Amino acid sequence: MCGIVGYTGTRVAGPVLIEGLKKLEYRGYDSAGLAFHENGQLIITKAAGSVADLEKLLDDKHKTFKAGVGHTRWATHGPPTDLNAHPHSSASGEIVVVHNGIIENHRALRKRLSEEAGIEFRSETDSEVLAHLIEYYFDGDLLTTVRRAMSEVEGSYALVVAGSKQPDLLVCARQASPLIIGIGEGENFVASDIPALLTHTRKTCIMDDGEFASITPEKVELFDKEGLPVEKEIFEITWDQEAAEKGGYDHFMLKEIMEQPDAVRETLRQRVDLEAGKVDLTELEFSAQELSKTERIFIIACGTAYHAGLIGKMAIESIAGIPVEVDVASEFRYRDPLLNPNQLAIVISQSGETADTLAGLRMARSKGLKVLAITNVVGSSVSREADQVLYTWAGPEIAVASTKAYVTQLIALYLVATYLGQIRGTVEPRQSLELVEGLLALPGQLKQVLSEESRTLIKNYCEHLVNWDNAFFIGRNLDYPVAMEGALKLKEISYIHAEACAAGELKHGPLALIEKGLPVVALATQEAVLDKTMSNVQVVNARGGAVFAITREDFDDVSRQVEAVFYLPAIIDILTPVLSVVPTQLIAYYTAVARGCSVDKPRNLAKSVTVE
Ligand code: G6P
Repeated sequence: MCGIVGYTGTRVAGPVLIEGLKKLEYRGYDSAGLAFHENGQLIITKAAGSVADLEKLLDDKHKTFKAGVGHTRWATHGPPTDLNAHPHSSASGEIVVVHNGIIENHRALRKRLSEEAGIEFRSETDSEVLAHLIEYYFDGDLLTTVRRAMSEVEGSYALVVAGSKQPDLLVCARQASPLIIGIGEGENFVASDIPALLTHTRKTCIMDDGEFASITPEKVELFDKEGLPVEKEIFEITWDQEAAEKGGYDHFMLKEIMEQPDAVRETLRQRVDLEAGKVDLTELEFSAQELSKTERIFIIACGTAYHAGLIGKMAIESIAGIPVEVDVASEFRYRDPLLNPNQLAIVISQSGETADTLAGLRMARSKGLKVLAITNVVGSSVSREADQVLYTWAGPEIAVASTKAYVTQLIALYLVATYLGQIRGTVEPRQSLELVEGLLALPGQLKQVLSEESRTLIKNYCEHLVNWDNAFFIGRNLDYPVAMEGALKLKEISYIHAEACAAGELKHGPLALIEKGLPVVALATQEAVLDKTMSNVQVVNARGGAVFAITREDFDDVSRQVEAVFYLPAIIDILTPVLSVVPTQLIAYYTAVARGCSVDKPRNLAKSVTVE
């Protein structure tokens, strides 16, 4: 998500930090900032905008300091503004922090610090609380103070702290957000990502969860939570700059596919309560009364987000019992939907900037509907114009073909469906618990689906697919929108013409196109319609089509009826789309690679479509 760079040594820190931040720009960000020591004080320069803008703000003075910290922010708590940019400082200005991650208990800590220490917060960020908390406990030793303060913090963090009293010291902490120390000669570095380090050193030491580090020009020391020293291995990075940006993967798309377990975990964070067996979306300030009287929901989205909407419809109708219509935004805005203020509109947009989706949102609002936005970008147009926003915490998505953002949109929709079901009393406590348990199991199951063995299986299958110009994706019920998404992904990046077909519709036309060896990906994950789907598969087999089935390990009979099979872990029907889409993403990816296509930037397509 955000980027961190820290330097302590004999060189002038400014250019080192600016260069490091520039190396992290590819990740996407909306504001940037730096902090340096000056005459016993820490001076912060930060602003919404680019690193180049920040560089212009630095006067010559800033170019003499030998240590400092820098940050590029990708907004989560609070929009991209100068005040919300990092670094953040304590009330006295003696403690400065840069932070990546999410502080889950920031509200409780804020309240305590304002009540007990009279702290006035300057930003809307969760991160600012860390600077005040560290100052609150400061006992002259920055490392022990940071350890003490962080023992009260819940959530994820990569944190670098500077204190005005020790100008060449950086103290770091890590929990579920990467932080890497770069080891130099008479100078040391810290960064959230390897690309920021590579021009200076290839010797690195990777911090693990629960560890703390003290970094000076001469020494790097690591400690555990109890303050005991930790011996760390030093790694020599062999990646070049480009490989480092992609986390060692060949493409951003594969990196983002592999990030899905974490993206799902982040999106669920603090929104599900396993003990209570409930979803908690009180972050949405719709009244229970407002939600319980909702007569109908309109989901409005484009492309991949539209496919998420189709699954959202089925989830909301079956869990919350509210009728849902799903529209491609460019169609919604030019038809005459029967809109009234007792309805709710849900707009889904990764970027939050898609012109058609935005127009749909405005049209719904103009007819008096309340609008809930599901988006990945804080401060985006959609987030600003909607009544309420449910953010997906997928982190910046760089590949044009959406993967991790899509999967987190599904999670957001399951949360909404369950929450509405709870409010309206349509979901029994037992079913709600089953959904909560199912959602929490997804990150682990996604990891399983992404194992090396699974990827090899798909890669082998793609050797067949790569020679064809046409393919079908079929499925029934919840498998049908997944088939649509699988077909779209294959088209987008491999340029193979792929058509999604409701399995039961094959016989009404598309069957005429089935010929010997034609690739057909059959999604067969829904217990309720398994037999029906498999009889459609038999019809394809009889015409010589080569069926690759994506099914569940508890449906072990499927493998006998198809050419090749991909098994997903056992999971309740309603949640399977989160897992079953992953093999389709991998099919598109490996086929595109085998065809030598430009995977991350497919021809004619754009990541964010801000025109009609
Ligand atoms: C473009 C992108 C797609 C995306 C669609 C909607 O076509 O290439 O990946 O699904 O826009 O974008 P949004 O940002 O609104 O989700």
